[in-house]
Amino acid sequence: MKKRIGILTAGGDCPGLNATIRGVAKACYETFGNDNIEIVGIQDGFSGLINNQSTIMQPNDFSGILTQGGTIFGTKRTPFKLMQVIGDDNVDKVKSMKDTYKKLKLDCLLTLGGNGTHKTANLLSQEGLNIIGLPKTIDNDIWGTDVTFGFHTAVDIATEVIDRLHTTAHSHSRIMVVEIMGNKAGWLTLYSGIAGGADIVIIPEIPFDGNKIVEAAVKRADSGKSFSIIAVAEGAFDVEEAKMKKKDRLKKRLEAGETTATNRIASIIMSETGIDTRVVVPGHMLRGGSPSAYDRVLATKFGCHAAKLIEQEKYGVGVAMINKIVSENPLAEIAGKTKLITPDHQLVQTARNIGTAFGD
Ligand code: F6P
Repeated sequence: MKKRIGILTAGGDCPGLNATIRGVAKACYETFGNDNIEIVGIQDGFSGLINNQSTIMQPNDFSGILTQGGTIFGTKRTPFKLMQVIGDDNVDKVKSMKDTYKKLKLDCLLTLGGNGTHKTANLLSQEGLNIIGLPKTIDNDIWGTDVTFGFHTAVDIATEVIDRLHTTAHSHSRIMVVEIMGNKAGWLTLYSGIAGGADIVIIPEIPFDGNKIVEAAVKRADSGKSFSIIAVAEGAFDVEEAKMKKKDRLKKRLEAGETTATNRIASIIMSETGIDTRVVVPGHMLRGGSPSAYDRVLATKFGCHAAKLIEQEKYGVGVAMINKIVSENPLAEIAGKTKLITPDHQLVQTARNIGTAFGD
């Protein structure tokens, strides 16, 4: 009997999605033979599954996409918290997804995505669908895997941003405050901060004290360094904000006319030190373009492992790198958990050992 595999990409895109899709497809065609397997591409993540928007793929469709950024299937954010809520459109999303799965006669569904995607994947698995999750995100914050695909490409891009800021910061004797993506987790900021030699690294896992950041910047200036680079994670917050719930923190910022921690840090430094300071936000550039060689290899390994799981009919799992071995975790064990940096993490210690300040 011909196997039918559905694949979708959900949440924010990242480099390596296509490389993973290709890895799955090529390994499936090798394992089962071209005539014994059919791959169905679901458009725009879970939205395509809800609305039954899909395309039957041909083996050739997976050629030439290894190096392509983005996702050939398109992606969309369909928040997990709304999945079981019936909105104005009266659509029961979970039922619709199950109906589409049945209509398409799928044997299993592969969901490529981050934490939100894994939560919906787990929900569908508990509803009886055969699901395999694959860990995608530049944030590297999926529980149960050492690494996610897309992360190292983003580290490379963020590092290049910091490298380029070094030369202009040096020329102008400025402080450059660069905001790196990462709302809950600071992995991307920490890795690129170390790789790019940032002087101060601010991450959500270590709430900052504005005065300590100023102290570190002044100390560096006093030691004769004419410029500084500060890498700030998008989701960073200070010690006062750390005591608040996220929604209260955002409300407080709105009332104070503040936008991000990055802007606040820059203005504290300017007003306290008088040093010319600029903010740089590379934003979605960190997610664009071709995957790095590392991510192409990782994506291929993850894709091949998913094909092996399909062969074994092992479902309800998320592919993962566990102690350098490609393996899998039960979705029920990882969904809803976030992998954060512990303040005593070896990499934090490494940065501290070379004099990097964390604003604490
Ligand atoms: O989850 C990946 C990520 O790039 C985060 O680092 C960032 O906070 C968020 O997505 C941005 O989301 P959007 O693409 O919806 O603006």
